[in-house]
Amino acid sequence: MIPVILSGGSGTRLWPLSRGQYPKQFLPLVSERTMIQETVLRLNGLKHIKPPIAVCNEDHRFMLAEQMWEIGVKPASIILEPVGKNTAPAVAMAALSVASDDVLLILPADHVIADCAAFHQAVIAADTLARQGQLVTFGIVPTQPETGYGYIQRSQSQQGEAFKVAAFVEKPDAETAQRYIESGDFYWNSGMFAFKAGVYLDELAKFNPEMLQVCREALQSAQQDLDFTRIGKDIFSTCPADSIDYAVMEKTANAVVIPLDAGWNDVGSWTALWDVTPKDDSGNAVFGDVLAIDTENSYLYSKDKLVAAIGVQDLVIVETDDALLVATKDKVQEVKAIVDFLKSQK
Ligand code: GDD
Ligand code: MG
Repeated sequence: MIPVILSGGSGTRLWPLSRGQYPKQFLPLVSERTMIQETVLRLNGLKHIKPPIAVCNEDHRFMLAEQMWEIGVKPASIILEPVGKNTAPAVAMAALSVASDDVLLILPADHVIADCAAFHQAVIAADTLARQGQLVTFGIVPTQPETGYGYIQRSQSQQGEAFKVAAFVEKPDAETAQRYIESGDFYWNSGMFAFKAGVYLDELAKFNPEMLQVCREALQSAQQDLDFTRIGKDIFSTCPADSIDYAVMEKTANAVVIPLDAGWNDVGSWTALWDVTPKDDSGNAVFGDVLAIDTENSYLYSKDKLVAAIGVQDLVIVETDDALLVATKDKVQEVKAIVDFLKSQK
């Protein structure tokens, strides 16, 4: 299998720590290693794993290369996008750069998986199914009606450890998500996939031939610069933007889901990060120079200054060089609005 590390996202909901120039996948958010390093190191111990392909924004190329070097990993290639066009084109370019029978393991660069052994077992099962021509998804048992995830409905038809997918619905509204949770036969889409490169490209050819064509031309005209494959801006700017979920997974009839119970968390927000971080007796996750008195269930992060909190609950306080965030935990999804506002002021 060839891992494809998707690392072109901007992680805006973890502002002010995650920034345009320094998005969350390049930060050591849950351990001493950065999220992208953890993603690659998590594969250690699996057999038949080839060097990864990384796909990221060209601005992050040195950070990515350096972080791979630090853990002794030499990617097979680093594909550089001049602009973000979401994940479907990123995966297409990776798929076009290998043989059509090669199995790709698509991995977002910014997830936490606590139980590595369970993850490995799922990957081994996925490899077998992918070789048989399936598009394999990894399904997480949902705990609340999250609207930021894709939902996978399993059918009764079982193939080994997997179920044939009855329906894939990306980011449903809250009401629909609630119905899915109650029905009991839906999983969250983890955002990881396994398939043969050629199988993905065939599906993309059916559902979005224009995207495939632009990616093909973009890769053919790409410039090789040291270890980097530089995609040209003129051509890639014309690529339709879409995620793999909307572009392929919602439409394919060829998908299976492997249930994954491995302590998965996509660390998509401050509360998700609080969830996976060790906490003190009062439920506070504390970093740096922090004084917390009568403070409960909060995420408190100090880069330089002393952060002191007294008599508060359920807050996120993040102090960095140039910004200070104070938010209630129930509003953390809206942190993105701050970033959007700041961008609109530029
Ligand atoms: N190379 C590249 N280029 N990578 C990208 C791009 C891009 O334009 N956009 C996003 N990525 C990377 C992100 O860095 C992340 O690692 C991964 O692709 C997924 O992108 P997100 O933006 O985080 O997707 P999402 O969270 O909205 O939704 C996806 O993940 C959920 C689980 O976390 C979907 O797959 C959902 O169905 C899923 O539930
Ligand atoms: Mg995400």
